[in-house]
Amino acid sequence: MRKIVFATNNKHKLFEVQQILGTKYSIKSLKDIGFTEDIPEDFQTLEENASQKAWHIYNKFKIDCFADDTGLEVNTLNGEPGVLSARYAGEQKSSHDNIMKLLEQLKDKPNRDAQFRTVIALIASGKEYRFEGIVRGSIIQHLKGTDGFGYDPVFLPKGYQETFAEMDIELKNRISHRGLAMSKLVDFLDR
Ligand code: IMP
Repeated sequence: MRKIVFATNNKHKLFEVQQILGTKYSIKSLKDIGFTEDIPEDFQTLEENASQKAWHIYNKFKIDCFADDTGLEVNTLNGEPGVLSARYAGEQKSSHDNIMKLLEQLKDKPNRDAQFRTVIALIASGKEYRFEGIVRGSIIQHLKGTDGFGYDPVFLPKGYQETFAEMDIELKNRISHRGLAMSKLVDFLDR
């Protein structure tokens, strides 16, 4: 089985990606390869951050690897929180605090349209490839559901009655930003 490192220690992301790639590829997390430091992600775009994370690990271990960076882009907030999604309410990176801040910002706004956007950077044999996935939807008024992570309890994908936090993993992976970017990555790896 071809071994690929997913440059993350986020167990939710790892679980989602293993559901998609797990039967064909041996997916290793940073913990699996003994890397426990924080990887810098200090750029202003998802593209640059994903790329920075992937190169950081590739340069150190010389194993094919990929990294993702995801942002929640809200129309009426001019695309915010965007690349700052993880730290929206502060450096403690609390999903609960981030959601509370988001609901507060949208309190009087009639338009609650939003999208999740994921960029994956893959480094294979020293070359970089990028894959993007977008899912459109809206931010609901109150939290619903207990599965998933991050902003899932307030994100209602367009055309569905359940938030990402109420969906089973298979459905979320089929329609989500990360799932769509991952299927482009899979197509590329399978070529
Ligand atoms: P990052 O890609 O780990 O930097 O994620 C940025 C922010 O978006 C963090 O607050 C995550 O919790 C959140 N996030 C990333 N992916 C998802 C998702 O699939 N659902 C909900 N929130 C997410």
